[in-house]
Amino acid sequence: MNVKDHIPAISVRNLSKTYGHGRSAVTALKDVNLAVFPGEVVGLLGPSGSGKTTLLQCLGAILDPSGGKISLTGETLYENGWRNKDRRALRRDHIGFIFQRPYLIPFMDARDNIAFPPMLQGKPNKAARRRADELLALLEVAHRADARIEALSGGEQQRVAIARALANDPPVILADEPTAPLDSQRALIVMKLLQQTARQARTAIIVVTHDDNIIPLFERIYRLRDGILHEERGEGREMPSPAAAT
Ligand SMILES: Nc1ncnc2c1ncn2[C@@H]1O[C@H](COP(=O)(O)OP(=O)(O)O)[C@@H](O)[C@H]1O
Ligand SMILES: [Mg+2]
Repeated sequence: MNVKDHIPAISVRNLSKTYGHGRSAVTALKDVNLAVFPGEVVGLLGPSGSGKTTLLQCLGAILDPSGGKISLTGETLYENGWRNKDRRALRRDHIGFIFQRPYLIPFMDARDNIAFPPMLQGKPNKAARRRADELLALLEVAHRADARIEALSGGEQQRVAIARALANDPPVILADEPTAPLDSQRALIVMKLLQQTARQARTAIIVVTHDDNIIPLFERIYRLRDGILHEERGEGREMPSPAAAT
C-alpha cells in the first residue's frame, strides 16, 4: 500500500443538487457524503430516478452541484458555489467517464476513438495507438480495431467506449451502467478489467449498476434512495473525518 492510498481519490461532503427553481424544483441529491480510495471499485445502486446519474455527473465535472464539496485526487472541484476554473483539464486528465451510451466519434475507427484522448494529452500518435490496441485486445474487440463505429454492434461500441475511458490511465473512473448493453459473460470481463485496473493503477472506480451478476463483485456498495446515500456493505474502510477530507 502506498501513502497516497490514504487520501480519497473521490471525496464528497454534504453534496446537494436541485434542478430548476420554485415549484418545479426537483431535489436530486440531499446531503451526500462519500469517499472512494485509490484501488477501490465501489458499486452505486438505487432505483431509477434516485439520483445516480446526477451524482456521477457532478463528480465528473459535467454538472454543477447546488451545494457541498467535491474533491478529486486532493484537488477541490466545487465548494459551496466556488468552482475550479480548470474543470475541463481536470476532466481530461483525472477522469475516465463511461456513459450509459458509448458516444463515440463516428468518423474515426475504433482504434482512433481510443487513441484520441491520449493524443489530446500530447502523447505521440504511435504510442497512443499501441495503447489502444492493447485495450482492444483486453476487451476482446481487437478484430474490430479498423472498423468504423457504425459497423460495430452495440456491445462492441460499449467496449470501445470502456477502452477509451481507460486509455489515459485516469486516477478516477466513473461508469454509468457500463455493462447494460453487454451479455453476462462480457459484463464479467469488463468488471474484471476494472478491478484489475483499480488494483494495478490505484484507480478509484464508481460503477452504477442494476446488474445482479456483477453486484457480488463489489467490496463496498452505496445505495441511493430519493437522493439520500447510504453505505451498505463495507470492508472496514472508515470514512475520513471532515477535517481530514480534502
Ligand atoms: N436535467 C434535469 N432536469 C430536471 N430534473 C432532472 C434532470 N435530470 C434528472 N432529473 C431528475 O432528478 C432525479 C434524479 O435523476 P437521475 O440522476 O437521472 O436518476 P437515476 O440515474 O438514478 O435514474 C429524477 O427525479 C429526475 O427526474
Ligand atoms: Mg441514470
